[in-house]
Amino acid sequence: MRKVALMTAGGDCPGLNSVIKAVVMSAQKKNIEIIGIMDGYKGFVEKNYVKLDKKSVYNIETEGGTIIGSSNKECPFHYPVDDKKVHYEDMVEPSIQALRKIGVDGMIIIGGDGTLDSARVIEEHGMQTIGVPKTIDNDMIASNPTIGFQTAVENAVEAIRKVKTTAYSHRRVMVVEMMGRTSGYLTLYGGFAAGADIILLPELEYDLDAVCEKVKEIMDGGKRYVIVAASEAAKEKGKDETISRIVKDSFEQKRYGGIAEKLSRQIEEKTGVESRPVVLGHIQRGGEPCTADIILGARLGDYAMNLIADGRSGFIVGAQEGDLVKTKFPKVRDARILDLDTNDVYRTARDMGIFFGVKE
Ligand code: F6P
Repeated sequence: MRKVALMTAGGDCPGLNSVIKAVVMSAQKKNIEIIGIMDGYKGFVEKNYVKLDKKSVYNIETEGGTIIGSSNKECPFHYPVDDKKVHYEDMVEPSIQALRKIGVDGMIIIGGDGTLDSARVIEEHGMQTIGVPKTIDNDMIASNPTIGFQTAVENAVEAIRKVKTTAYSHRRVMVVEMMGRTSGYLTLYGGFAAGADIILLPELEYDLDAVCEKVKEIMDGGKRYVIVAASEAAKEKGKDETISRIVKDSFEQKRYGGIAEKLSRQIEEKTGVESRPVVLGHIQRGGEPCTADIILGARLGDYAMNLIADGRSGFIVGAQEGDLVKTKFPKVRDARILDLDTNDVYRTARDMGIFFGVKE
């Protein structure tokens, strides 16, 4: 019986368990055994494996997170080894050999850019590998949307709707900070669907005075509150983005955070309208996946398993305009940029009067 290893790595998102279930169930039909690697590349290097069968995946598709854990810190070819003094070693080959020793001859790796970059390296070491893209940031070329994005938008919309009711009562400006790193997809789609008045994206540096003028205009026009949806990496013209911490050893070391706190104070000072910051944070990434992510996750998991069974390797599976596609692992980071010149949600939002932080 063939054995294939399955791993989730990078920041988690809703929909991962649906991929896991599809891989396990599809493998069963092909008489392939699935070995789960726990906690991403940490478990890969430290040989922490678990057998996954029908019973382990019963009903998991409706659960958020990932039953085999994840980590967004470890890189297997630059792995911290504590041998009296911490130093870094390339652990890819020994980790592959450990898997081969237990009979594994293929891998399905679910993750974002960093994870799939390491997957490419594993494939170059001769292990049959297929990648499955996931991220709430929706910034991977391989799939549009990526697994997790649609649920994160739903989560953000639900949260902002709650913020609106208290904003109304108190005549306040609520500055809602949203995830997405340097990609504005989540803030644009979530802010738009939730009815934000002002949306600030990393792709467009904002003018603080113009934002404050807009706040005054909205309040003077008789609306009792203003919702500002701000990407965590949004920045004022000529200023730096707000970084909350640096996570050493992580593929993307910067963690953004602090824009809502800063901007809310500035708006209150400059306009005299009371303001509060709200950081949506990991709420956007948590909870049950929406139906679309359950279906997308299952389709991509099954597709990955079929490619493995067909002996294919070195591909990332994805969906483009509803169709399943496969692309080769990119050699360099291949991020999908939110193109404001062509994105029609951005155009629609502008046509409907939503302000993006700069005067037209
Ligand atoms: O890439 C996914 C993401 O949720 C980003 O939107 C966010 O900036 C980051 O991960 C948060 O990372 P962590 O879970 O390490 O705080």
